[in-house]
Amino acid sequence: MSKPKILVARAIIPATVARLEEHFEVEHNQADQPWSKQQLGHKLAGKVGAFTTGGDRIDAETLAAAPELKICANMAVGYNNFDIDAMTARGVLATNAPDVLTETTADFGFALLMATARRVTESEHFLRAGKWDRWSFDMFAGSDVHGSTLGILGMGRIGQGIARRGAHGFGMNVIYHNRSRLAPDLEAACRARYVDKDELLRTADHLVLVLPYSPSSHHAIGASEIALMKPTANLINIARGGIVDDAALAAALRDRKIAGAGLDVYEGEPKVHPDLLTVPNVVLTPHIASATVPTRRAMADLATDNLIGFLIHGKPLTPLNPEVLTR
Ligand code: GLV
Repeated sequence: MSKPKILVARAIIPATVARLEEHFEVEHNQADQPWSKQQLGHKLAGKVGAFTTGGDRIDAETLAAAPELKICANMAVGYNNFDIDAMTARGVLATNAPDVLTETTADFGFALLMATARRVTESEHFLRAGKWDRWSFDMFAGSDVHGSTLGILGMGRIGQGIARRGAHGFGMNVIYHNRSRLAPDLEAACRARYVDKDELLRTADHLVLVLPYSPSSHHAIGASEIALMKPTANLINIARGGIVDDAALAAALRDRKIAGAGLDVYEGEPKVHPDLLTVPNVVLTPHIASATVPTRRAMADLATDNLIGFLIHGKPLTPLNPEVLTR
């Protein structure tokens, strides 16, 4: 019997391709050729499954080119690259990769917070440029992390991981805002206090964004929200590009409306707003919050388990639109 055909849209861990090949006829992209959306649709034609990453857009147009497609397994916890309604309408299952990256991503959120507060990259650039010729009392003086107020916008699993690190590791006063308030036992475990968005913006010394992207979170942080923040505050975005209005943020950083920012995600990435590249008080990383060797392997394994679980055994692990399963 011939094996079901699947597409792996980007280069991934070779062992993952080998594991998929045990069960499927795999068309892969180990050369990591950039495909346009049209080319992706063309490649998906005749496939029943797709292994996707957060940059592979699956919407009505790509789905129309792939009438046999039954599942797209994302190697990412975020899934704003999927048009879930269009997928559900066509009976295509969507899965993501939650949990396996929670602690690694929370570690990175904290790394970016620390680097921003203590001006790590700015001072390294100074040193590498050969400008360090003496001690001075205010050289790269930043803000304290321990004992300060940590604000978290979006209190899912990663937000809670950051809260625990701040409260228990650094004695921070943790406040958060979320669509819904956490259960009391979770709030207690994070030592976090629920506040409204205005209070969060006004009070936080370090504000970390960890909310999912959706049309309703588009530019959740723009010029008017930044204007509420303390001039000494730092803004950290490890969530998704588009949640922050990057042009407004660059202008606020230039005008010292806030002290600094640490960004791992950008509107329209991998392009970065040119003004962000010219302001010194921002730490910039290329969307690597989940990038450790074991975590990337665990994410690839979970996407693979979803494809095998659904296409071979009829049981996916982390369905996003489970209503497709009952049709
Ligand atoms: C990374 O951004 C992810 O959503 O997994």
